[in-house]
Amino acid sequence: MELSQGAKAAACVLVLGLLVIDASQVSAVQRNKCALRVVDKTNQKAVCVCNATYCDNLVFKWPQNPGEAYLVESSRTGSRLDVSKLVNADWDWCGKVDNKLVVDLDREHQSILGFGGAFTDAGGINVMGLPEVLRNKLVETYYGEHGSQYNFGRVTISGIDCSTHPYSYDDLPKGEKDYNLTKWSLAPEDLKYKIPLIKQALEMVKTYNSSLKLFGSSWSPPAWMKDNESLVRGHLIDSDQIYESYAQYLVKFYNAYKSHGIEFWGGTLQNEPIAALSPGYNFNSLELRDADAVRLIRHLGPALAANGYTKDKFKLMVGDDNLGSINDQVRYIMSQKEVYPYVAGLAFHWYRNLEPNIYQKLTEIYDQIKDHIEFALMTEACIEPGREVPVDLGSWPRGERYANDIIEELLRQSGGWIEWNMALDEQGGPNWVRNFLDAAIVVSNNKTEFYKQPMYYALAHFSRFFRPGSVRVDVNMDVISPSEDNKELANKDVSAVAVHKKDTGHVVVNILNKSDEPKMLIVKTLDVGRAVRIQGKSINTVVIKL
Ligand SMILES: *[C@@H]1O[C@H](CO)[C@@H](O)[C@H](O)[C@H]1NC(C)=O
Ligand SMILES: *[C@@H]1O[C@H](CO)[C@@H](O)[C@H](O)[C@H]1NC(C)=O
Ligand SMILES: *[C@@H]1O[C@H](CO)[C@@H](O)[C@H](O)[C@H]1NC(C)=O
Ligand SMILES: *[C@@H]1O[C@H](CO)[C@@H](O)[C@H](O)[C@H]1NC(C)=O
Ligand SMILES: *[C@@H]1O[C@H](CO)[C@@H](O)[C@H](O)[C@H]1NC(C)=O
Ligand SMILES: *[C@@H]1O[C@H](CO)[C@@H](O)[C@H](O)[C@H]1NC(C)=O
Repeated sequence: MELSQGAKAAACVLVLGLLVIDASQVSAVQRNKCALRVVDKTNQKAVCVCNATYCDNLVFKWPQNPGEAYLVESSRTGSRLDVSKLVNADWDWCGKVDNKLVVDLDREHQSILGFGGAFTDAGGINVMGLPEVLRNKLVETYYGEHGSQYNFGRVTISGIDCSTHPYSYDDLPKGEKDYNLTKWSLAPEDLKYKIPLIKQALEMVKTYNSSLKLFGSSWSPPAWMKDNESLVRGHLIDSDQIYESYAQYLVKFYNAYKSHGIEFWGGTLQNEPIAALSPGYNFNSLELRDADAVRLIRHLGPALAANGYTKDKFKLMVGDDNLGSINDQVRYIMSQKEVYPYVAGLAFHWYRNLEPNIYQKLTEIYDQIKDHIEFALMTEACIEPGREVPVDLGSWPRGERYANDIIEELLRQSGGWIEWNMALDEQGGPNWVRNFLDAAIVVSNNKTEFYKQPMYYALAHFSRFFRPGSVRVDVNMDVISPSEDNKELANKDVSAVAVHKKDTGHVVVNILNKSDEPKMLIVKTLDVGRAVRIQGKSINTVVIKL
């Protein structure tokens, strides 16, 4: 039916009014709203405060009626996972459309593996140090059905910078060796912090039939295995006995956790084996030359397999360092056929992501090795302060950086994104080399509350709605009635990524608006458009039941 201009204008006014249907009228949604605390009004810094009696959450029922669609939005101005219902709309919807996004279900890419954070010493100390009621709220806000629904956890193997002191699981007086690892044992940090916390998370994900993929990463072998007899930098001693001993050292970790009822999905070969070459790298680390990496796999692969951690059950990943810097090493490792029975994935970190064209490096390395790996995964990210304060409470730009990075990497085949420490204190620690950092959640020093930063919500938009097993599909974006300038601006300001959740017939599109100005979008799937009004400086999830 062709509407007259007058009727069309009237319809526009009507639809504009209906565009945002308040969450309270949407039966699919109930929630505790964010208890917003503005930290810095001028710079629009704000956190959601959780205490022993209150924490915000989101009870969201995925739409069941074909065509039903929702918008979930977070913004610099204070929206945090706020839900509204979307209405259908034409392409030229009232002449007000800035961008149109077309989801193409036929163009499929990688499967989503998932999202999560890391069980580090610092994270464990901060979370387990909270009174029980508050700790439960924190675990729930990450792992609960009404929280982020994290399904990934990276677990650090012995000491790291984010520990209170340097240590390994087999420290000896100088000059001694323990090739058979008779003095190997887990540390108090495992028993007091990491294991109890992981067990609690495992119990929590079971309540809504989800599961947790855990993977281990080691920073340094014991000093007696290294050519500089230090936990900081240095190489493994050039001896097969040492390589074998380190391989067994790592397998002992997985077996020890298993004896506590904790099973691993995988592990990385070595945390940051290239960054460790840098003279300024002043904490637990190991330098691996390309041939050293292959030599370690030659020992570790069979040692894992002999203990039941075969490639089908245990995903060994190479890389685990910054994009760009890992490319040569990963290319070398994957040119050695002997590693194919063991290596399952490419792991990479986000830290160089402000460099120009850095994401191109992911495409390059993925394309070169894709025939020999099952997936790529971003395994560590946090804000490294540089000259800024480590903890910049409530910073929207830091949340935007998370969302932008997740989108750029999902668009280049990454299966997911794992944040670093799941909680830090107000200083960004503890950290034995004072390498203080920021995290999605910061715990107050008096242990009575914790703060969910914009970074928490940026990640939750993905972990909550880009569920494991969903398949990424193309989303094509055009600017409507653009001048060339506009077009460039729109593409710079707005980025988007989409998945098809085939088991339930949903399409999810995440859209980041980096511009200060609000925008009107049309999101179209299977020829049906929906009008989406997006706030300036916002992260948006559009959920559509096909
Ligand atoms: C906990 O937070 C809620 C919501 O912000 C607030 O009403 C309550 O007073 C807080 N409780 C304490 C003990 O601060
Ligand atoms: C280490 O174990 C091997 C095999 O069980 C044994 O032959 C060897 O004597 C042991 N070495 C030491 C130093 O205990
Ligand atoms: C989990 O699965 C069980 C058994 O299939 C089912 O009864 C239960 O309703 C499910 N729970 C949730 C939260 O989906
Ligand atoms: C460890 O090894 C590196 C070189 O690989 C060296 O520069 C560094 O100073 C060593 N650290 C210590 C504490 O000896
Ligand atoms: C704990 O510290 C926070 C942040 O400094 C403060 O807002 C809160 O009022 C303190 N609570 C108590 C009980 O001291
Ligand atoms: C992004 O936000 C700006 C500022 O609020 C707005 O003008 C613009 O329309 C938004 N873009 C989209 C795609 O929604």
